Amino acid sequence: MSRYPNLLPLATAAVLLALILPAASAAVVWGPYVTNTSENSAVVSWKTASPAGDGWVEYAPEGGETYRIPSTSEGAMHHVLLTGLTPATTYRYRVGTGDGVTGDCRFRTFGDERFTCIIYGDTRAQKPLFTQAERHGLVAERIAAEEDILFVMHTGDFVCEEEEWDEFFTVAGPMLRNTTLVPVAGNHDGSAEEFADVFGLPPYYSFDAGSLHVTVLDSNDRAWADMGSQTSWLKGDLASSLPRKIVAFHHPPFSSDRQHPGGDLGIRAEWSEVLSENGVDAVFGAHTHAYERYRVNGTEYFVVGCGGAPFYALSEEKPTGHQAGREQTLGYIRAVVSPDAIDLEMMAVAEVAKDGRVTTYPPGTVIDTVRLPADAAPQESAPAAWWVVPAALLGGAALFRIRR
Ligand SMILES: [Fe+2]
Repeated sequence: MSRYPNLLPLATAAVLLALILPAASAAVVWGPYVTNTSENSAVVSWKTASPAGDGWVEYAPEGGETYRIPSTSEGAMHHVLLTGLTPATTYRYRVGTGDGVTGDCRFRTFGDERFTCIIYGDTRAQKPLFTQAERHGLVAERIAAEEDILFVMHTGDFVCEEEEWDEFFTVAGPMLRNTTLVPVAGNHDGSAEEFADVFGLPPYYSFDAGSLHVTVLDSNDRAWADMGSQTSWLKGDLASSLPRKIVAFHHPPFSSDRQHPGGDLGIRAEWSEVLSENGVDAVFGAHTHAYERYRVNGTEYFVVGCGGAPFYALSEEKPTGHQAGREQTLGYIRAVVSPDAIDLEMMAVAEVAKDGRVTTYPPGTVIDTVRLPADAAPQESAPAAWWVVPAALLGGAALFRIRR
């Protein structure tokens, strides 16, 4: 008689199980994307279809030596820290898993005196009326076509609900491949733990990029449980000696959103004085699904909830300081930052009629511009431009120009 048990039933069960269960896949389903960039470091992130412990990142400066770092994650989310990088340098990178290797991607370490960045937010879909691909996709495609974007700041509400993250990363994929993402937590983006799981970042943080100090805050309901700590951190953070400063958080303190008249008045009372007293040039938010711009006590407040979410109507009554506004328009802000000034352009991508009909604008369509701070010297030579009356689109109600 055999000393060993009969293994045939076990083997048969294993074969049957393998046939029933889907094979574990290390295919990359989110990303890769880069966050946490500084002059000397960056974090490369991706998600695999199933938990996978055999991922890695290969990276190299343009024309330089290639390095490989393994991921230490055994789960599906991977965040790999690259250190010892050279400031103001473009790096190529790619991600490998047991299932294959991604194409080449790029990011640039911070440190340039002058650079271009993008700001936009509210990219969520409204099922079953429209998907992210149908609205956010138009904006992400235009941003992806912009050249040499140091970072894309998303001012929150990436998704409507947790199930939508796959769709966000599919739509945003080409845009994220050649830049750094600076995420701001919106009220639809889950808990602080979920935000950290996706982006490898806490809900409030700051960094320097060349002459610009960037502060990201958490304006969500959960933040009020310990707002004193965040506000005192903000006061210390804004002591930065860099000449240009911007701040971003999801809920706008100034807005003519009909559902929140005046904007988020609690956030306004908590932070607006601190921002102006510390020389913040611009504040970026979303939450109101429209474009708005206000100037209050020397600080410019932008609402840029134009990334694809269902549009909100604006009230005729505006808080003091109103400068510009636009409804039903998909778009993003393009900002050129230098030590002396920040030049901002609101880029219109498409007009969405109340019945959902979408009319796209030509690439390079600008509907609002401002140079900050307000007392900055004017540009030496303004860019050549054409002024166009889009009577067919807008009933002749607005002018816009097309950047050459
Ligand atoms: Fe929101």
